Amino acid sequence: MFKVRKKEALTPQTKLYLIEAPMIASKVLPGQFVVLRIHEEGERIPLTVADFDRKEGTLTLIVQEIGKTTKEMGTLKEGDGILDLVGPLGKATHIEEFGTVACVGGGIGIAPVYPIARAMREAGNKVISIIGARGKDLLILEKEMAEVSDEIYVTTDDGSYGKKAFVTQELERLVEEGYKFDFAIGIGPVPMMRAFAMSTMKCDIPAKVSLNPIMIDGTGMCGVCRVSVAGKTRFACVDGPEFDASEVDFDLLCARQATYIDEEKESLDRYEHHKCGGCSE
Ligand SMILES: Cc1cc2nc3c(=O)[nH]c(=O)nc-3n(C[C@H](O)[C@H](O)[C@H](O)COP(=O)(O)OP(=O)(O)OC[C@H]3O[C@@H](n4cnc5c(N)ncnc54)[C@H](O)[C@@H]3O)c2cc1C
Ligand code: FES
Repeated sequence: MFKVRKKEALTPQTKLYLIEAPMIASKVLPGQFVVLRIHEEGERIPLTVADFDRKEGTLTLIVQEIGKTTKEMGTLKEGDGILDLVGPLGKATHIEEFGTVACVGGGIGIAPVYPIARAMREAGNKVISIIGARGKDLLILEKEMAEVSDEIYVTTDDGSYGKKAFVTQELERLVEEGYKFDFAIGIGPVPMMRAFAMSTMKCDIPAKVSLNPIMIDGTGMCGVCRVSVAGKTRFACVDGPEFDASEVDFDLLCARQATYIDEEKESLDRYEHHKCGGCSE
């Protein structure tokens, strides 16, 4: 069992968990993830390690509640245990001194961008972060991102906080103003990463995205996380999750992410029904 040492609501739909997992905490690097299963009958879901403390032996996971398992995770209390936690999985982010690096996070994607921005800064880069969300109530880690960035720009789609814009529009605006970026990383929902790929290609910035296809084992065996990059089949869990933004087939990623949409809805409906006592009727 992996104990939940601390739990905190960051937004009405997003919770932060501090989990005791000393073996994983001793090895994990920015860009890597874990696959967890809450209990014996639970499904496996991948979550990025948003932070780690090697001395304390803890991992920080930040979870947006969108379906059955993430909502069920939201019912865990401090002191509860998670049955399985496998990791660290995936390739770590390649960190080097590029010069000026843009760290771009959309929605829950700000969580995985945070340790990358910090590591890029520690490697001597000038870090310019652009973070955004649909609205103010979904924006996370603004203070933490500001602490690891030389400059930070905040946007919301609805203009409820920061500038009313998409993060990619803000990136293009900075380039128009004369900023030169030597590297960029963008993480968020697929439409955001697709737009990020277009913007960075247009502005001639070498860029990576972190792909989030459906995953099961996270170790390259089931094939579920298949993506197409530069026309070749790759498994995001072992070959990624980060890939060159300009080479990703986002249409295929979108289509594969939606494969089980009916089953996911049914699973959530059954869970909500069970939770409200409907099953005992
Ligand atoms: C490498 C990686 C890192 C991730 N990191 C985070 C994170 O740090 N925080 C966070 O909130 N979310 C993260 N996700 C997404 C998270 O795994 C899904 O939101 C979660 O699995 C949804 O499960 P659910 O049962 O709550 O929702 P469901 O209703 O089952 O699914 C909702 C949507 O989530 C996606 N999804 C469903 N099952 C999986 C699965 N097994 N693997 C991947 N995606 C799935 C699908 O697009 C689906 O349409 C990450 C995904 C990947 C691949
Ligand atoms: S999740 Fe099974 S091969 Fe990647």
